[in-house]
Amino acid sequence: METSKPVKRDSFTTGIGVIAATLGSAVGLGNIWKFPALTGLNGGAAFITVYLLSTLMAGLPVMIAELMLGRRSKSDALTTFRVLHPKRESWALIGAAGVLSAFLILAFYTEVAGWVFAYVFKAASGSVLSSDPKVTSAAFASLISDPVQSIFWQCCVLLFVGGIIVLGVSKGIESTTKRLMPVLFLILLMIGVRSLMLPGAAAGLSFLFHPDFSKVTGAVVLTAMGLAFFKLSVGMGTMITYGSYFRDDQNIPMTALRVMLADLTVSLLAGIAIFPAVFTYGFKPEAGPSLLFITIPAVFSQMPFGNVFVVLFFVLGAIAATGAMLSIMEVPVAYLHQRFGFTRFRATALTVALLALIGSTAALSNSTLAGFKLFGMTMFDLYDFLTSNLLLPLGGFFICIFVGWVWGEQKVRAALSNDGALENRAMISTFFFIVRYVAPVTILVILLRGLKII
Ligand code: TRP
Repeated sequence: METSKPVKRDSFTTGIGVIAATLGSAVGLGNIWKFPALTGLNGGAAFITVYLLSTLMAGLPVMIAELMLGRRSKSDALTTFRVLHPKRESWALIGAAGVLSAFLILAFYTEVAGWVFAYVFKAASGSVLSSDPKVTSAAFASLISDPVQSIFWQCCVLLFVGGIIVLGVSKGIESTTKRLMPVLFLILLMIGVRSLMLPGAAAGLSFLFHPDFSKVTGAVVLTAMGLAFFKLSVGMGTMITYGSYFRDDQNIPMTALRVMLADLTVSLLAGIAIFPAVFTYGFKPEAGPSLLFITIPAVFSQMPFGNVFVVLFFVLGAIAATGAMLSIMEVPVAYLHQRFGFTRFRATALTVALLALIGSTAALSNSTLAGFKLFGMTMFDLYDFLTSNLLLPLGGFFICIFVGWVWGEQKVRAALSNDGALENRAMISTFFFIVRYVAPVTILVILLRGLKII
């Protein structure tokens, strides 16, 4: 068992800071890149409905569970299980898998973020703007198929995020996200309003809000659940780590609920910003991951002041991605710091160096390594698939089992009521029922069906 107790732990300092950092983690490329792309590919509102159900039955409960465990243990994702259940080392495997997932997610996430950062500059110089989708797709292709540019932008992102992480939890993560989150909402609202004034607004909205359930298969349900985990940053210890920086008087269930609702609002606003424009200018909503990079510049370049809105859009993306990447990188950094006593600088430097290595396999998967495939997928797609469709749901499943069956109701009641200070018995009962029965069964069934095992 560990004896390494932290001397003095940094933490979030204000209630607003807690919300900003946690929401900053949830809001990310998931909202503006994955959510619209997956919604467009999988039948619009029907997909959103399944996504919402997965969020309520699995994503949100796991989020509450993670924050609760982290705050109780005041430890990183791995050490948390050792502290809370010292008799059985094997539970720490959840945390170990989480640290692994952090690297896999960041490997492809920093690459997409790199494209977004690059597009801020390219859009500002006007080089990616054209009303002709052939030109915008060629511009995107030339970026992602250029190994030098891909690696360069990924390294920029890694150094940028690493630079903030080094500053610490309160001075780095909290103060950055506290400043950036309001800007993000402002930009999103502006773009959303602009988009709603377009002639195709009605068609775009009806696509977003009119369900077509014929598209929903087992694999689609798994994708929706994977997105629910990915969106709320749960299943790999991010929320355990952030929970460990929560104040003891923070109301965890309410915080999680608020973050979930705000995050959903951002996703819907992103959809409202994108789909009316897509329909107005005759694009297909099924463009997939390239929706953001090919369609957006083409679509926006056709509307008045479009060039300004395109730059704003990618600035928005860069802000969103930053808060999310901070939270993922904090998982290994917190672990190295607490477990091995590394200084924050050393822990961050090591993490960034490792990521530059693993990340390059994702960055090069559209160029040098395009032919290198495992299970029929490039490294980029493999990391994405493995984490969202396997590791996060599995992590979430075991966290539910740990909380619902091992840690038990009494400790949950004490932890979530802040040792009796909060009057939230009914809420806790509902949570406990879901974590013990509903969530694990839902996750397992969706996982097995989605992977065609049953
Ligand atoms: N939620 C973020 C997004 O939607 C991504 C993210 C941050 C994440 N931390 C995570 C995903 C932890 C999985 C696990 O972009």
